[in-house]
Amino acid sequence: MQNLIDTKFAPELIKEIKQVDEAVLRQRAWIEVEPSSIETNARILSKFIPENCLLMAVVKADGYGHGAATVAHAALRGGADNLGVATLQEGLDLRRSAIDCPILVLGNLTKAEELRACLDWDLMPTISSLREALLCQKIAESNGLQISVHLKVDTGMTRLGCDLKDALALIKTVHDFGNVELDGVYSHLALADDESSPVTELQQQRFQHLVGKLNDCGYDFCFHLANSAGTLRDINLHYDMVRVGLALYGYSPINQDLENDLGLKPALSVKARVTLVRDVPEGVGVSYGHRFITKRPSRLAVVGIGYADGVNRALSGKISVLSNNKFLPQVGSITMDQLVLDATDHPDVVVGSIVTLLGKDGNSCITPKQWTDWCGSIPWEVLCGFKHRLPRIVIR
Ligand SMILES: Cc1ncc(COP(=O)(O)O)c(C=O)c1O
Repeated sequence: MQNLIDTKFAPELIKEIKQVDEAVLRQRAWIEVEPSSIETNARILSKFIPENCLLMAVVKADGYGHGAATVAHAALRGGADNLGVATLQEGLDLRRSAIDCPILVLGNLTKAEELRACLDWDLMPTISSLREALLCQKIAESNGLQISVHLKVDTGMTRLGCDLKDALALIKTVHDFGNVELDGVYSHLALADDESSPVTELQQQRFQHLVGKLNDCGYDFCFHLANSAGTLRDINLHYDMVRVGLALYGYSPINQDLENDLGLKPALSVKARVTLVRDVPEGVGVSYGHRFITKRPSRLAVVGIGYADGVNRALSGKISVLSNNKFLPQVGSITMDQLVLDATDHPDVVVGSIVTLLGKDGNSCITPKQWTDWCGSIPWEVLCGFKHRLPRIVIR
């Protein structure tokens, strides 16, 4: 047993145990988040839109996996005016993180208790129907308060929102409610990232028609329509506010060159350590299903990260990781907690070496887009697919 312990690594291990916090967080696999990149992106985006247009930072799904409070604070420092979340809980978490800017809940809240919590915590619900509007009115009235809401209209996404044909009448009705403050009217684009599709233009025309009618009636709401793709592709989609998610995190959902042209910076990297290095002969099957057979005597590095951390199994044998600015191919099936690299050509990779699965390493960068090409996913899903088993380390 004694012989099996490689004393070469003992001093390193002892040092790591002493630095307990560091060691615990960076032990197996983790996510590094740079708030300064979020701040820069928010600054770039707020300069990109017209001066009188507000910037909403969309921080739902725990800030697209980056950590909602970290992203929210950084985006506000960079010039974002308000925040968008999907759920009541996400809004409450931000309030508890000492965030006092306007927060819009983009998802539908159907229960009186949820709307009551919005009132208590100064969160703006989205309403899509008369039923929700009446609930808001009842709750605010019984507390002698006003509740601010945004009303969503479906212009072609066919998800949340009232029917376009009912929008004008519903908006007029809600506007006349004594205790409901209708602050915003908005819609959501279904295909803004597909510049060849006519749907965005159609949605814009429908929205514009409604805006025109509401303006004729003398209403002055905050009108908003654009997500990241809409924001980046056409100023006519900007209206009074844009709701930006993906671009805030450093990625353009349309023309990828835009990321560089605008100077958007990815803010998240996924890192993991090599936990074992093995020398194996030619012809050895690697990992479940032996989907990879070594073609030469090989040096394999086992890394402590897997699909239970958010590295999609469909990426098996297709991705590479970065180590010291060089790419190492991943081989065999990605398993729940581990994956294997072919380190034959990389003698510098040893137990404890850190590899980057996503994000920057030196001059190189692996983007979610590169993963999605392989696993049929989308960058949004990749980013918010990293599980909380991976500690988030904020790099100041
Ligand atoms: C209503 C709404 N607005 C804006 C966004 C932000 O989208 P994106 O990340 O493409 O900017 C989302 C995200 O899905 C959303 O649901």
